[in-house]
Amino acid sequence: MNDAFGLPQSVLVLGGSSEIGRAIAIQLVERRARLVILAGREGPGLEAAATAVRGAGAAEVATVAWDATDVAGHTRALEATWARHGPIDLVLVAVGVLGDQERLEHDPAAAAAVLTTNFTGPAAALLAVADQLRAQGQGTIVVLSSVAGERVRRSNFVYGSSKAGLDGFCQGLADALAGSGVRLVIVRPGFVRTRMTAGLPGAPLSVEPAAVATAVLRGLASGAPVIWVPGALRAAFVVLRHLPRRVFRLLPG
Ligand SMILES: NC(=O)c1ccc[n+]([C@@H]2O[C@H](COP(=O)([O-])OP(=O)(O)OC[C@H]3O[C@@H](n4cnc5c(N)ncnc54)[C@H](OP(=O)(O)O)[C@@H]3O)[C@@H](O)[C@H]2O)c1
Repeated sequence: MNDAFGLPQSVLVLGGSSEIGRAIAIQLVERRARLVILAGREGPGLEAAATAVRGAGAAEVATVAWDATDVAGHTRALEATWARHGPIDLVLVAVGVLGDQERLEHDPAAAAAVLTTNFTGPAAALLAVADQLRAQGQGTIVVLSSVAGERVRRSNFVYGSSKAGLDGFCQGLADALAGSGVRLVIVRPGFVRTRMTAGLPGAPLSVEPAAVATAVLRGLASGAPVIWVPGALRAAFVVLRHLPRRVFRLLPG
């Protein structure tokens, strides 16, 4: 259960080795979360994240094997997680792959794999998560969407469309959860300097993972349904969303 200050005491991260996910988990631990469950593909990345979260002072850190593309297995995996660790106050969905757009445009199977990892898999998992949280009567879901889904660009339309799909799905799920005691918060970061963007030319208004975490914790406290990081991107996308296509198409990146 959330503590007396409304802060989560138990946190599940789907995509447990994510750098942004790790930064958020650490800041939640610093605000007194005591149990963190990192669900992801087993390997050194997941173990390193567990070590970092433990180092931040979590009383208990567990890792759970979870693959976003195992769509048929999500209900069983999440039921098992709740049976072992529940109740869980906050679930963060941090799974995602960027992919190489140029290659993906000519490799339909690889493009489908990106769409499954970023959209179909998380969407199915979110339904299973929502059922668990509804059953316990309270909880918060935080989903890392992206500005890339706000208006899909030619330069990364496979990734962007997967985020557009996930974002739309989450808007609907948030409405479906209204009145249930369960809240879903969508996070739309711009360019964040993590291994996902390593080697890419930096974009305007780039931020570090810690800045995303700070914005998420502030947004959770304020009750915001959508969190833009940095906040200036919200205004920027009011304009970008309405640009005529022939103009939008000419923008760099
Ligand atoms: N970095 C940015 O600029 C940016 C901007 C906006 C939104 N986002 C979103 O923020 C989230 C976190 O990204 P990040 O920047 O922290 O990148 P990251 O460190 O690369 O994290 C991505 C996570 O997804 C996991 N993952 C990939 N495929 C998976 C699968 N099939 N099953 C389970 N887990 C899988 C990775 O696990 P492995 O260690 O097993 O690969 C990793 O934990 C993503 O949803 C991303 O789209 C990022």
